[in-house]
Amino acid sequence: MSPQFGQHTTGVEVIEALLPQTANKTVILTGCTLGTIGGETALALAHGKCSRIILAGRTESKVQALIDGMKKVNSETKYDFVQVDFSDLDSVRTAVNRVETILGKDGTIDVLINTAGVLGVWPYQKTKQGIEMQFGIVSDLVHLTCLHESR
Ligand SMILES: NC(=O)c1ccc[n+]([C@@H]2O[C@H](COP(=O)([O-])OP(=O)(O)OC[C@H]3O[C@@H](n4cnc5c(N)ncnc54)[C@H](OP(=O)(O)O)[C@@H]3O)[C@@H](O)[C@H]2O)c1
Repeated sequence: MSPQFGQHTTGVEVIEALLPQTANKTVILTGCTLGTIGGETALALAHGKCSRIILAGRTESKVQALIDGMKKVNSETKYDFVQVDFSDLDSVRTAVNRVETILGKDGTIDVLINTAGVLGVWPYQKTKQGIEMQFGIVSDLVHLTCLHESR
């Protein structure tokens, strides 16, 4: 029977109910800093017995603070920080190479959780490549996914 979730279900309860989908898996998360949706997702995911969780963000100190919290929950999972600024496609390409190095020749990503983003950017701003900022950051996530799929 499928697990039943409701408004009072916690993230940890969801992860525990879905354990076969995370145990021994490699997960990549974006937008994961403390206090964000991605950060809360990461803390819950630390209960998921993953083999590896790769956290992609633009500020190492912010992501490292989150990794420290995740290690307190589960120190057996491998955690990797990958530096990326989604407002710059050059940075995205560098991050993809770094992820491929971490994974090695035969490594795969089992779960991809993209929560990095900005909403209602004002005043008007563009990415380094000249795309409107909100759209550009989301579409960079699509690039990251596509590049991985093309491995
Ligand atoms: N919370 C809501 O009610 C709500 C509603 C509708 C949509 N959303 C969308 O859902 C997503 C997550 O929401 P949230 O509330 O957790 O957002 P948030 O608190 O603003 O966090 C956004 C995350 O994305 C990262 N990020 C932003 N720009 C980035 C860039 N250029 N490169 C790399 N990382 C970048 C941030 O990292 P830094 O800390 O380094 O900036 C942060 O970790 C966002 O896309 C948001 O627009 C949220």
